[in-house]
Order: sequence, then C-alpha cells, then structure tokens
Amino acid sequence: MTASIENTTTPIQWPVEGVSRVPYAAYTNEALYALEQEKLFRGAIWNFIGLDIEVPNVGDFKTSSVGDTPVVLVRSAPEKFSAFVNRCAHRGATLCIDKEGNRERFTCVYHNWSYDLEGNLKTVAFQKGVRGIGGLPADFKTCDHNLRQLRVESFHGLVFATFSPETPPLQTFLGPKMCAHMARIFSRKIKILGTYSQYMHNNWKLYMENVKDSYHASLLHLFFATFKLNRLSMQGGLVLEGDGGHHISFSKMATDVGGGTEYESGGLRAQSDDFALRDGRILKSWPEFEDGVTHAIQGIFPNLIVQQIQNSLAVRLLVPRGVGECELFWILFGYEDDTAEQTETRVSLSNLIGPAGLVSMEDGIIGNFIQRAIGSDTDGKTVLEMGGRAVESQESRVSEASVRGFWQEYRKHLQL
Ligand code: FES
Ligand SMILES: [Fe+2]
Repeated sequence: MTASIENTTTPIQWPVEGVSRVPYAAYTNEALYALEQEKLFRGAIWNFIGLDIEVPNVGDFKTSSVGDTPVVLVRSAPEKFSAFVNRCAHRGATLCIDKEGNRERFTCVYHNWSYDLEGNLKTVAFQKGVRGIGGLPADFKTCDHNLRQLRVESFHGLVFATFSPETPPLQTFLGPKMCAHMARIFSRKIKILGTYSQYMHNNWKLYMENVKDSYHASLLHLFFATFKLNRLSMQGGLVLEGDGGHHISFSKMATDVGGGTEYESGGLRAQSDDFALRDGRILKSWPEFEDGVTHAIQGIFPNLIVQQIQNSLAVRLLVPRGVGECELFWILFGYEDDTAEQTETRVSLSNLIGPAGLVSMEDGIIGNFIQRAIGSDTDGKTVLEMGGRAVESQESRVSEASVRGFWQEYRKHLQL
C-alpha cells in the first residue's frame, strides 16, 4: 500500500486558471477562514480600526476589530494612539464592554485586573492574598502579563493597526495613488454625521468583491442607472495599486454621453425610464471636487472602503463574523466647515447608502444570493474575465480587474 501525502498546510487548491477563477470553497472553507485570521488579519498588513476624531481626548476609546479579533483603540496621550486586543491577560475575558467612552484605566469585571491606556498591566486584585495567605507567587511580574499590543499608525485621520513587526510603514502599504486619493477626501477637518452597522449572511470576501466590482453597479442597482447617477457610459476608470489589492473605481456624472449603449437599446433590468421621483431633493448635490469625479469607491485591502457617492461621504469597515457571516460598520461624515445646507444635503443623500439605502440595499443581499446558491459545492468556481484576465488599471469599468487584484493580493498573503 502506498501512503498518500496530503498537503495539510493549504486548505483549498486554487484553480489552474489563476485569478480569473475563484473556487467556491474560498467562501465556505472553515480551515481557510482560520488561516485568513492568522496570515492575513494578524499578518503583515495594516488594518483600519477607526478615525482619530472618534477618540479626540486622552483616555477616549472605541472598540473595533482586526479581522475577527476584538481590539480597543485608545488615545493614550495627546498625540498618541494605542491599540490592544480586548481580552484580559488573566483568563481571557472581554475587557472593555462599552463600545466607546473615556477611561483612566481599563479594569476587567471578572477579577479586577487593571491596565493603563497602553494596555500594560498595572494592578492585580489581592496580588498578595489576604493576611499573607493566597495571592500570586512572589516571582510574578505584572510586566509579563500586559495586553497584546498592536503597532499603530495614522494617515489623514484614519488610524490603522498591525500585529506584525514585518508590516512596512503605513504609507508604503497604502501606496502613492491610494494615499493621494485619501488626501483628497480627507483634505479638510471632518465631522461625523452618523454611524451604524449592518449584518450580512455571507462570507466577508463576497462583500469585498462586490465593492471592487464596477461592472455590477449600474446593472444590479436600478436606482443608479435609472436616475443616471452612475452608468458605465460615463467617463471613469479603475485605478489599481501595487499587486492589485487596493483599488479606486471612479466616474464623472457630467460625462454621460448616452447613445449607442445597452442602456438605450433597452433590456437592462436596472434601467427603468418609467420611474420618476416625486420629490427630487434626494438627488440634490453640488460639485464636491474640482476634478469632476462624482463617484469614487476606494477599497483598501483587505476590508476598508472609502466612499464618495455625490456628496455622500463614508468609510466602511468590514468585520468577518465566522465563515458565512460578516458585519459592516459605516461612519458617515462631512466637513467641519460645511454649511447647514450642505450638511442637510449629505444627510439626504445618505438615503442612497446603508442597509436600507436606495442603492446599497442590493449590495447587502447579493452576497447571500451567492452564499446560499453555492451551498456545500466545493468543486465549482466563479468566472472573472470581464476586462480580460490581467490585474491592471483600466479605463473601462466594464471590468473585473480590481476583483482579480483582490484575489492576487489575497493569494500572496495566504500562500495559495
Ligand atoms: S479574567 Fe480578567 S481579571 Fe480575571
Ligand atoms: Fe453595488
């Protein structure tokens, strides 16, 4: 009998076609999910964990996530951010239960061990026991039991954290084109208009594919095409960075030439000229940037989205919640120097986005359409050949080049 050697380090086999195919198992395999947490989220990448203005004062904190690892972002000094795993070093209890607030110390409810703003263990309740009996051994050193601390860097008010000492500086990780776009969006002081999260019943990567899929926007979203907010016949393109993990897809509403496209010849489900708005105020907007770009979606690998849809601005952080579930955290914002009317317009335009948004609601369900259709089929694979098979920046958005870029970067980190 010949012994077979199984490759136990790779939970799935990638199809020979490369990134123009994605095996269904990528969305359903439990072992792959665990490997992602280790190699990707706790590996050599920067993870967005919050905005600096969410923690304006020393001691302010918010809870966040790096992959599915709970973390806390704290302003530990006037110009310093710290981040640590939200898990007590004693017996692993959730340390910080509140979503946000201000603390001088973080004290665990279970046995009252307490930590400073950087996550260093400061006090242990009954460390010396009672009247000399019980307590910790004499050689116990509190400094050996700090919380697991992450490196933190920020860029234009976006705060990122990494577990890995290998991760290059944040701006190197982002790359020049992504930095330039972020500098454009975060050029002035911002103010938060609202936050919420939405829960989705699909693997997290199905949502990231959707974000990077400029092909679907005016086909799935009836509202976009019908009211001519974003159509493939507008000037625009895909900008990829580095190995393709980060991307920007953009369009300019004023450049819609119309004519000679499938929009006019009919037959597109998403185009319905019978629809009109009784109250057009929802579509009121003004030119936000001089470059004429009215729609720009930036995907920072692996799970951050920076959004400009007309004057609706937002960042979204996608958090995996197990292999078939994920949660998307939205932060809607405007600028501090906006007029009251501009703020009202931004709030009104936010009807387009979010779990019940006139546009985004379809993005919240389409991942589940895939997840439930795949079921437990581990043999099948998806097809990603729109715009060719390459990973590159392109002028056409009738393309899946940025989706292929996501997978190219993903495979590199997971060594698949
Ligand atoms: S688990 Fe936190 S103090 Fe015991
Ligand atoms: Fe969409």
